[in-house]
Amino acid sequence: MDRREYIEFILDHYNNPRNHGAIDDPDILVNGGNPGCGDVVTMYVKVDDDNRVTDVKFEGRGCTISMAGASLVTELVKGKTLKEIEEMPYTPLIDQMGEDVVKSRLRCATLGMDTLKGGAREYPSRKATGQKLIQPIVLAHTLSTD
Ligand code: FES
Repeated sequence: MDRREYIEFILDHYNNPRNHGAIDDPDILVNGGNPGCGDVVTMYVKVDDDNRVTDVKFEGRGCTISMAGASLVTELVKGKTLKEIEEMPYTPLIDQMGEDVVKSRLRCATLGMDTLKGGAREYPSRKATGQKLIQPIVLAHTLSTD
């Protein structure tokens, strides 16, 4: 795809977000935000007994790239285990959005994915105590385009 097509792809996810909304009685409900801009995303996840995602949705308020990235990540993680989400590389998300388009906005592009990764990481210990995961996460991005 060329740059214009990547931008159209991002705008389509922003204007027609996939899996947008809340899940009643989620196993994971996790909030994430980017310090400095005030943009926030909430990810809702249902998992089965093997910790495999059966449903995922998001709500949020933020820039075009962060909301498009949150929409896209919901499509990328369906059917994956929480462990697979934790270990998932950023590359497929960034490649689909166009590296040249988002490389100066990686914190925006990965807000949804990082929030989801945080929830996946915390879930096992919360589950052991019978709690849902409701935890604001302050993101510490270590991304680079190298
Ligand atoms: Fe805040 Fe993009 S400007 S996430």
